[in-house]
Amino acid sequence: MSQAAAVEFKQVTKNYGSGNVLERFDLIIPAGRIVTIIGPSGCGKTTLLKMVNRLIEPESGTVLVEGEDVATVDPVTLRRNIGYVIQQIGLFPHMTIGQNISIVPRLKGEKKQDLTARISELLELIGLDPAQFRNRYPHELSGGQQQRIGVARALAANPSIILMDEPFSALDPISRVQLQKELINLNQRVRKTIIFVTHDIDEALKIADLVVLLKEGRIIQTGTPEQLLEHPSEPYVLEFLGPERFSQYSI
Ligand SMILES: Nc1ncnc2c1ncn2[C@@H]1O[C@H](COP(=O)(O)OP(=O)(O)OP(=O)(O)O)[C@@H](O)[C@H]1O
Ligand SMILES: [Mg+2]
Repeated sequence: MSQAAAVEFKQVTKNYGSGNVLERFDLIIPAGRIVTIIGPSGCGKTTLLKMVNRLIEPESGTVLVEGEDVATVDPVTLRRNIGYVIQQIGLFPHMTIGQNISIVPRLKGEKKQDLTARISELLELIGLDPAQFRNRYPHELSGGQQQRIGVARALAANPSIILMDEPFSALDPISRVQLQKELINLNQRVRKTIIFVTHDIDEALKIADLVVLLKEGRIIQTGTPEQLLEHPSEPYVLEFLGPERFSQYSI
């Protein structure tokens, strides 16, 4: 597996006008892994994701995507090449599920025939029957099904990087666990770099190859879930992850 960096933050500072949210922030996201970003509300998680696809621009510093400074890439092109899934899903209500899923490849000029096949393939991948779902409208789907469509849409243009900002938080626990499993399976089959923000510690530890724990715009610890649980770098790690998780590792 490639150890190349998919995304790199170098000395990134972001300020919305009342102090720095991030200050000289450095982080390397390795390619082909699921990286979860956790930390308290307001610590800068969404800000980090949105700087990757230029929905937000830093005051200073550099964000590199596959080695290229995003500031030099046209934002529209950048966004078509990076999947983005948000909690609110953002499906277009007047488009069918098939049209929603295929929007980016369509904008890129892919042939109709290829799009039809791609939609079926993606619906199958996320566990929805293409014959049943492709011509429905978003309001004809449950919340959980809509979130799956959000994931399918992010995959449609076959991006190597996908940003996910609390994508499963509106789901019931059963659908959520199912989608977590599907995400892990998916990543084993088609290696993607997935940067996944979540408030759910169980989710973060379960799906991650690598966890990044933030506090007030600073990295407290990065490591595999096991590394965080076995070697918490400071008491805050225990506090945030929940002391009960550490009992099995304590003396
Ligand atoms: N457009 C904005 N204008 C001003 N301040 C902002 C803006 N967006 C975010 N902030 C502030 O920047 C900080 C980081 O916000 P961000 O959305 O990145 O946090 P977060 O870690 O994603 O939080 P949450 O877990 O609640 O989603 C917060 O203090 C927030 O109030
Ligand atoms: Mg957020």
